[in-house]
Amino acid sequence: MAVILDKSTLSRSLSVNLDHMATLRQVRRTSYPSLTTAAGICEVAGADGVTLHLREDRRHIQDRDLELLRETSLLPITLEMGSTDEMVDIALMTLPHAVTLVPERRQELTTEGGLDAVRLESQLSPVVQRLKEKGIVVCLFLEPDVDQIEKAHSLGCDSVELHTGAYSLDWEESRSQAIEKHLSRIQASVDRGCELGLQMNAGHGLHYQNIRPLAALPGLTEFSIGHSIICRSLFVGLEKAVGEMADLIRS
Ligand code: PXP
Repeated sequence: MAVILDKSTLSRSLSVNLDHMATLRQVRRTSYPSLTTAAGICEVAGADGVTLHLREDRRHIQDRDLELLRETSLLPITLEMGSTDEMVDIALMTLPHAVTLVPERRQELTTEGGLDAVRLESQLSPVVQRLKEKGIVVCLFLEPDVDQIEKAHSLGCDSVELHTGAYSLDWEESRSQAIEKHLSRIQASVDRGCELGLQMNAGHGLHYQNIRPLAALPGLTEFSIGHSIICRSLFVGLEKAVGEMADLIRS
């Protein structure tokens, strides 16, 4: 039987996505900036984890980044990946703390849309089982949709990361009615997930302004944030950029 999560007692956490720092390195194929140094600074600044998306085309994070961070990071590592055989083998070999399964298309600029867990059930089921057998926390990146959340639960996942991309886009256009709609869909998904005992996370397109209403929703636990933090770090430094975001999430 699922353990219902008490939303009033959940603490909030920040996992810093380092993909964009790797992008900066890969445009020149240099050895800097160092992701291991970055992960250390994230830890000092009060982050709770670091996230890496190992894409099929290796456009930013490289296999070596994952290996090095696995050896050196004091923070738990979340590996975002497609549910391919290649990626599952890498995860089983490197054993990150958590894996977030995401949809992946080569042409996309960034992850567009959540996984369709309902449609992909038969493909996802063995992947979830193999990862869980090795003690890896398994998360699905999903749209805020109750049917999808229920499918994540029936697949045996531990957590769900709600895709906040559509919320973020409407935020940029100041569409207040749409923003309210997103927030209530997100809250309904969080409520259902907590009832089912799933840890409910959120991420994509979140920044220092649009995080505030989300951080106020009861039941959301972890926020996975990259682009805005790395951009802000150009002006204030990484430690301050991470610390400010961690404060906003926990305040
Ligand atoms: N979560 C997932 C599943 C993602 O694919 C991304 C983008 O890499 C993020 C969170 C972080 O998004 P952003 O870089 O916009 O903060």
